[in-house]
Amino acid sequence: MPPLLQVENLTVSFHTKDGVVRAVNGISYAMDEGEILGLVGESGSGKSVSSMSMLRLIPEPPGKIEAGRVLFEGRDLLTIKPGKMHSVRGRDIGVIFQDPMTSLNPVMTIGRQIAEAMQVNLGMDAGAAMREAVQVLDRVGIPQARQRIKDYPHQFSGGMRQRVMIAMAISCKPKLLIADEPTTALDVTIQAQIVDLVRQLQGEMGMAVIWITHDLGVIARLVKRVNVMYAGTVVETARIKTLFKSPAHPYTLGLLRSLPSLEMSTDQDLAYIEGAPPDMINLPPGCAFWPRCGFRTRQCTEERPELIAVGESHLSACWHIDRLGAPQRAPTPSHTEVAA
Ligand SMILES: Nc1ncnc2c1ncn2[C@@H]1O[C@H](COP(=O)(O)OP(=O)(O)OP(=O)(O)O)[C@@H](O)[C@H]1O
Ligand SMILES: [Mg+2]
Repeated sequence: MPPLLQVENLTVSFHTKDGVVRAVNGISYAMDEGEILGLVGESGSGKSVSSMSMLRLIPEPPGKIEAGRVLFEGRDLLTIKPGKMHSVRGRDIGVIFQDPMTSLNPVMTIGRQIAEAMQVNLGMDAGAAMREAVQVLDRVGIPQARQRIKDYPHQFSGGMRQRVMIAMAISCKPKLLIADEPTTALDVTIQAQIVDLVRQLQGEMGMAVIWITHDLGVIARLVKRVNVMYAGTVVETARIKTLFKSPAHPYTLGLLRSLPSLEMSTDQDLAYIEGAPPDMINLPPGCAFWPRCGFRTRQCTEERPELIAVGESHLSACWHIDRLGAPQRAPTPSHTEVAA
């Protein structure tokens, strides 16, 4: 079966007055139907831009898709007409944004908003769409859904508003759901509830999910596979279990070490990755991570490493995979239960 989504050499930049921001630098990956993929990396690594550009949701200009193909069920999303893109976004691919208020209309009741999406995308009549909106809100755990469809977005708490966003995103039964850090603004308990909700909905509906986050701990029990991103590239891709047991990129090691672990005493500082992320206008030559990497050699500063296979379904872009030593034992985070 062909993959649901196939991203090939996606390259995106922003042409600003300060220079060209090289936000996404040749990303390639594929996803099967029903697969759950995590995109992990620190702030500015290109997680949002790589995902939103394929839905044509970045401002163009200053944004520009410089190269690549994004095949969704065989159609290239980067070349289809804007009108068609609208229906892909509404019906085939659902999106949950970090800040629900950016995509909820403040002056329309949430019932109306959800129903309207179903009327437009699925051709339902107004009455049926409103009845279905109640069902969907109920499904994402909004109490008294029948009453609450008459409320406006500001009448919901942060966590409930995220649930409303999820309801909107899944109302048209998309084949792919993209969740862009939907939990970072929420407290830990509610984050866990939202992750559990998406996991449950995914199980029921069988949709594929891309979950974007800077925190591996949040998604360890949700995703099956992870793309680790650094400076607009994927530096490692692996099954989540493999990533925790045998990380094969120095940056991934750093990410894992920065997760809290059970064995750690509470006053111990979490290990962190020294140095700052690169300036995306003046990326260093070679591997973008070398200025922060303990394993660097001259080769790293001159030649960009490509992703190469280091195990089954496991790729890493590092010149020194052999020196990392396998398997690399990273601390297992206490709040994390790793998906099988
Ligand atoms: N409209 C824009 N104009 C200029 N540069 C931009 C614009 N949007 C994003 N960028 C740049 O593109 C790069 C990638 O940004 P992106 O938002 O994808 O990062 P991210 O991994 O999602 O980070 P975060 O975890 O903070 O959300 C960054 O260097 C960012 O500054
Ligand atoms: Mg982002």
